[in-house]
This record gives sequence, structure tokens and C-alpha cells, in this order.
Amino acid sequence: MVAPLELHLPDETATEALGARLADVLVPGLSIHLEGDLGAGKTTLVRACLRALGYPGKVKSPTYTLVEPYTVSKLQLYHFDFYRLREPREWLDAGFRDYFNADAVCLVEWPEKAAELPAPDLRIALRHAPSGRDAMLVALSPAGERLLRSISNGAG
Ligand SMILES: Nc1ncnc2c1ncn2[C@@H]1O[C@H](COP(=O)(O)OP(=O)(O)O)[C@@H](O)[C@H]1O
Ligand SMILES: [Mg+2]
Repeated sequence: MVAPLELHLPDETATEALGARLADVLVPGLSIHLEGDLGAGKTTLVRACLRALGYPGKVKSPTYTLVEPYTVSKLQLYHFDFYRLREPREWLDAGFRDYFNADAVCLVEWPEKAAELPAPDLRIALRHAPSGRDAMLVALSPAGERLLRSISNGAG
């Protein structure tokens, strides 16, 4: 078992650094849940991750589209935001189940709004701290444990 990783992120740059660390260890097939209130830094983290992977364009929040697909650095990556799901199964009706497959990486904001999501490999919980944010990374599968170990080893 790999212990959860707790980090204090004093400012936006620290959140972006975590996103870049995540980018280094992503492999196809991973599903990562991003939890935390509005403004906790979920989209900031994904944006930094895509930047680190070399995505040159604008990374917009998929709040209304529910998902934004990216092909970057040989990865197929789907960035979901389920905040505005009208009902918990809407994502299934929209045909997004196929995006959770062995060849893709899925990063999911507001997973708690969706029903029947595939079990994630990693949960990243972000919350407002008195100053900055606190992050907790929890491995939920063997792949998640490998990922968390790599992130921790890179922690320096
Ligand atoms: N560690 C941090 N400390 C302080 N502010 C942060 C930190 N990380 C991100 N932010 C700021 O908080 C906001 C987070 O917004 P966003 O990433 O859209 O949140 P979410 O997707 O969780 O709703 C942004 O304005 C960003 O600049
Ligand atoms: Mg967001």
C-alpha cells in the first residue's frame, strides 16, 4: 500500500508544478478524479499538466461541453468537468463511456456528480487552506500506486 501524499500548495505556481509532475508520470489507461470546491485549482492543475505535455493551445474549462479531448505527447487525454451534468447518467447517454479505455488518460473534475463512473486509479483532492491550497493524492489501484510512487520519488 502506498500512503496518501499530502502537499501544501502555497500559490498557483505550486499547483502548476504539481500538474507538471503529474504530466511526467501519466500512462495510457489512467483515470484520475479531481475533487474540491469551485476555485480549488482542479482546472489549473489540468492546464499545467497539458502545458507540460507540450500542448500549445488554450486549455479551457469543459464546464459546458462536459469534456475536452486532447492528443498530446502520444497521449489521448480527456478532460471532463461534470459540474453541470443535468442528471448523473447524462454522461453515459452522451456516449462518454468509451473514453474510459486502456489507451486514454481521463482527468475528471466533479466525478461525484456522475453515476457509474469507472473506478479511478488516483484521487486528487484539493482544498482551500488559510493560505493557498492543500492537496491530497490517494492511490486507488495498482496503477495509481505506481503513479503515486513516481510522483513521491520526484518530490525531492
Ligand atoms: N495553490 C494555490 N494557491 C492560491 N491560489 C491558487 C492556487 N492554485 C490555484 N489557484 C487559483 O485558484 C483559482 C482556481 O481556479 P480553477 O483552477 O478554475 O479551480 P477549479 O477548476 O477547481 O474550479 C485560480 O484563480 C488560480 O489562479
Ligand atoms: Mg474547473
